[in-house]
Amino acid sequence: MSISAESDAAQQERAVTDKVVASFDTTASPRLREVMQSLVRHLHAFARDVRLTQAEWEAGIEFLTRTGHITDERRQEFILLSDVLGLSMLTVAINAPATAGATESTVYGPFFVDAAPEIPFGGDIAAGASGTPCLVEGTVRSTDGTPVRGARIDVWEADDDGFYDVQYDGDRIAGRGWLRSDDKGRYRFWSVVPAPYPIPADGPVGDLLTAAGRSPMRPAHLHFKVAAPGHRTLITHVFVAGDEHLDHDAVFGVKDSLVVDVVREGPGDAPDGTTRTEPWARIRFDIVLAPDHEG
Ligand code: BEZ
Ligand code: FE
Repeated sequence: MSISAESDAAQQERAVTDKVVASFDTTASPRLREVMQSLVRHLHAFARDVRLTQAEWEAGIEFLTRTGHITDERRQEFILLSDVLGLSMLTVAINAPATAGATESTVYGPFFVDAAPEIPFGGDIAAGASGTPCLVEGTVRSTDGTPVRGARIDVWEADDDGFYDVQYDGDRIAGRGWLRSDDKGRYRFWSVVPAPYPIPADGPVGDLLTAAGRSPMRPAHLHFKVAAPGHRTLITHVFVAGDEHLDHDAVFGVKDSLVVDVVREGPGDAPDGTTRTEPWARIRFDIVLAPDHEG
């Protein structure tokens, strides 16, 4: 191919991109126009960069079709895809930039459920989820140190076998619940010691991880969503110190500031006044919310 023929081909490729970008000029919403025109430019640049073949384009379409087919109200393969591509964590970084002194955010994940039960201060979210009982307690404060009373604290976690309730058949609700911080901003609940688990790997996203030689494992963690008036809603986890998967979380969610010790205890009296007949554990996690006028 001559140099001028090459540049003709490049010009034809650019003309396709220019045409498609221009087709969105009439978009009424300026934001949608900006997003779509940028998406087209980057998508086309990607195809040019890798010199996308027809067979690869078909494989991509087939992959996305399978991703759609496996998605239903209990399984969200598109979120999983976003997670393993790091798009979820990048979106977190863009939208919840670290505020000095505030607890850091991390990925939401696909297992939050709106209809979780309310539990009292000191209540138990396990509701039959397997695992060593774990007392989780701490405070919710503003960045200026003021205790936040009445914050809504949603928590959810996998059981000792690495499964969330929604991954079981039936309408099981276990390992999740919500409570409010008390007048001094304190919270306390029982759960089970978080366990490491693989993200659902029996679909197209799992096939992608296998092809890439990547592990589907997430380090042990407990999810938190903390909301209070005047504060930015925090979506985060606590991770368990010493977990072997901390350095290669399948969804890139680990932040050092979120890694906490799980203190193992023998049978005996717990700080909440209960007497435990079996070994138990405790986690302390103090939460600092950013004011909502920032970012
Ligand atoms: C989770 O932690 O629940 C999760 C996050 C991303 C993908 C799959 C699961
Ligand atoms: Fe999780």
